[in-house]
Amino acid sequence: MPDPAKQPDLPETPDAKKLFIKTYGCQMNVYDSERMAETLGAQGYVATDTAEDADMVLINTCHIREKASEKLFSDLGRLRPLKLAKPGMKIGVAGCVAQAEGAEILRRAPQVDLVVGPQSYHRLPQMIRAEGQVIDTDFPLEDKFDHLPERKATRGPSAFLTVQEGCDKFCAFCVVPYTRGGEVSRPATRLLAEARALVEKGVRDITLLGQNVNAYHGAGEGGDWGLARLVRALARIDGLQRIRYMTSHPNDMGDDLIAAHGDEPKLMPYLHLPVQSGSDRILKAMNRKHTAAQYLALIERFRAARPDILLTSDFIVGFPGETDADFEDTLALVRAVNYGMAYSFKYSARPGTPAAEKPGVDSAVADERLQRLQTLLTEQQQAAQQAMVGREVGVLYDKPGRMPGQMVGKSDHLHAVHVADAAGQVGELVRVRVTAASTNSLAAVRL
Ligand code: SAH
Ligand code: SF4
Ligand code: F3S
Repeated sequence: MPDPAKQPDLPETPDAKKLFIKTYGCQMNVYDSERMAETLGAQGYVATDTAEDADMVLINTCHIREKASEKLFSDLGRLRPLKLAKPGMKIGVAGCVAQAEGAEILRRAPQVDLVVGPQSYHRLPQMIRAEGQVIDTDFPLEDKFDHLPERKATRGPSAFLTVQEGCDKFCAFCVVPYTRGGEVSRPATRLLAEARALVEKGVRDITLLGQNVNAYHGAGEGGDWGLARLVRALARIDGLQRIRYMTSHPNDMGDDLIAAHGDEPKLMPYLHLPVQSGSDRILKAMNRKHTAAQYLALIERFRAARPDILLTSDFIVGFPGETDADFEDTLALVRAVNYGMAYSFKYSARPGTPAAEKPGVDSAVADERLQRLQTLLTEQQQAAQQAMVGREVGVLYDKPGRMPGQMVGKSDHLHAVHVADAAGQVGELVRVRVTAASTNSLAAVRL
């Protein structure tokens, strides 16, 4: 999950208007916040680290679970006295709650000046000049990406790049198809240009983002390109050293992408492939359109192409109708896969989704299942980290560590690694040997 305190970079100028963005939700929201900061940067806004100091506060929201949405209204409550003390201050709400509940937000929170849905961020410059409350939650025909300014430098050597947005899968529990709209892929030619611009500004590591990233089919030279072709073209950019992609859906996985994991060295040995449940009955009720056995077979093919690939997933427990036996199937699937890491969530009924109509599982039972699943996943995560000890891996340095002479970075498998290296530079990709594993990170020496 993103760090809400991390602010997108903007130049520091003393008397410019100040912008504070708070970001919730997935990586795509992190990417969107950067693009909104760039858009407002072109209108004279510079970043600040606190809401108190800001002339404009933008909350980029997530609607995926009830708790995620609730955070918006508690934030708005805290902002109200700030705005009363500073009448010129603007408050904006962006993201998936804005899309789903825009009118309701304006009604409940008169301190909000603007509500902007994820497909309308390019219209922010007009919106900030408007008088009174404004809302734009259209799914416009024009492509917002064509109207956003050039990429700015990012803080570290890693960047996100949205290649595909929206979803047509309609899993029975999920709001994303409603908040982000249908699947749209960006043209490959534009993505290559954006990636080159990022690399010129010092980026070495790009994660391609999409709600169904492996369904990517964007216009490129000679016709539509799939994700594998895009990955291979990106890999030819000098200076770009690492590529990942997320989040994939099991039903969209092509042979060419699996093959790329075997022969494209810049494609990292890491795959986030959510399965949600190990029970075929529940998968069917979730409208996932794959079985547990099909998922396991897919994992085998990835492991055949890249034996050390680290697998991660998302799980939902307590989906309506989930029995003890269904949950045991989920535990069995987790044991069969052996994940490097995974997120697990208690089912949250979301208004407007088909599953919300069905009676839920007893809350205490769901809590207990979540606990058991998380215990197993934590054991697997610890074992995966422990198994790295003694191995040689690549590490890309993100920042200096807290100790003198120490650098911190990400391994090929996305483990956080602390390296004793007094001469290390941010953005440097080095080979290390892992010497120890602790709960959340590895220690290593540079080779
Ligand atoms: N394919 C998507 C998934 C987005 S939602 C992607 O791009 O990441 C991320 C995860 O949130 C899902 O995989 C699912 O495990 C969880 N989730 C979605 N809706 C949920 C709900 N109603 N209750 C609990 N968890 C949910
Ligand atoms: Fe939601 Fe399913 Fe689409 Fe993922 S694939 S965004 S879980 S509807
Ligand atoms: Fe949340 Fe929207 Fe992402 S609902 S998970 S911010 S797509």
